[in-house]
Amino acid sequence: MKKEIAVISGDGIGPEVVQQAIKTLDAIAYRFNHTFQYNPVEMGACAIDKYGEAITNEDLEKCAKSDAILLGAIGDPRFDNDPTLNVRPEQGLLKLRKHLGLYSNIRPIATYDIISDQSPLKNERLNDVDFVIYRELIGGIYFGEKKLNKDETEASDLCSYSVKQIERIAHEAFKAAQQRKKKLTLVDKANVLETSRLWRKTVTSISKGYPDVELDFLFVDNAAMQIIQQPSSFDVVLTENMFGDIISDLASVITGSIGLLPSASTGKSNGMFEPIHGSYPQAKGQDIANPNATILSVAMMMDYFEFFEEAKAIREAVEWTLSEGIVSKDISKAASSGCNVIGDHIANYIENYGEVKINKRNTEESKGVFI
Ligand code: IPM
Ligand code: MG
Repeated sequence: MKKEIAVISGDGIGPEVVQQAIKTLDAIAYRFNHTFQYNPVEMGACAIDKYGEAITNEDLEKCAKSDAILLGAIGDPRFDNDPTLNVRPEQGLLKLRKHLGLYSNIRPIATYDIISDQSPLKNERLNDVDFVIYRELIGGIYFGEKKLNKDETEASDLCSYSVKQIERIAHEAFKAAQQRKKKLTLVDKANVLETSRLWRKTVTSISKGYPDVELDFLFVDNAAMQIIQQPSSFDVVLTENMFGDIISDLASVITGSIGLLPSASTGKSNGMFEPIHGSYPQAKGQDIANPNATILSVAMMMDYFEFFEEAKAIREAVEWTLSEGIVSKDISKAASSGCNVIGDHIANYIENYGEVKINKRNTEESKGVFI
């Protein structure tokens, strides 16, 4: 099949990890006989430097017309700590999410034995950790009316949600739970916030259509504790935009490396796929970034296209590199492979149906890696 993919390399390590994701896509195209057409899009600090805005309308349209969007990372320290700037890289991301109607942000949290020692949690708490966060992405306080009074002594951000906005993501979260461990936890602050009470009422009513899924509720402050104390008790976590932003970062440290965590943001007509990690500007151009989160985001893209065999092949290839110790510095300081070499191995594994032999010594030296 043919798919058009808008490719946003972005800032920092974005271009390096995206390059490995493209190798992965090319390997999938080769093995499964697909055609992927890549349409480059500029977004983030690089776009601000060039056009004076984080994404141009023309590029927004390019993304809207694509079947999917692959994003590396955006952000640059030049923009981070100056709240007076009115153009910033993140605006591109927020604009894109809104423009494409990407209301559902999906962040799976899994653990890998190879890095369990790097998790800040005790090993025994990591058993059976496998949950997914469904975060509403284009509503709530992020997009409500913002006000600052004339003398700049008072400001406000409105948090508002409609039943419609809640329903559409809730259905997706329930459907996901049906395919998983059949449990859904709504995270809110219904003891204080009116919007949270609307979420509870709406989600409770929707749950009647999913009798096989157990629904429970947690206040967000309590959820923050439970995710650390009993991460294996979760299956699907559903929440609003701001709470989702915070608890997904909290949950992401459980794995032990943020370099392994993918995400998807889906909407009415297409989806965007990106690693959870940021642009890591300190590592830019050094070939030390971990490409796995971006490559696993491509696996989520394949699931989205309903290319399930393709998604499986990618996950298998990533797991194989981890088990072979073909890993970046964030996973093993002792034996580290470059970003590029990891990408080569993954593509090679996919193209050869897993029939590969490797020359380990050369891998570490980033030379010719295949026998
Ligand atoms: C995320 C990020 C963004 C967000 C920022 C960069 C605007 O933290 O994707 O979680 O807050 O949504
Ligand atoms: Mg965030």
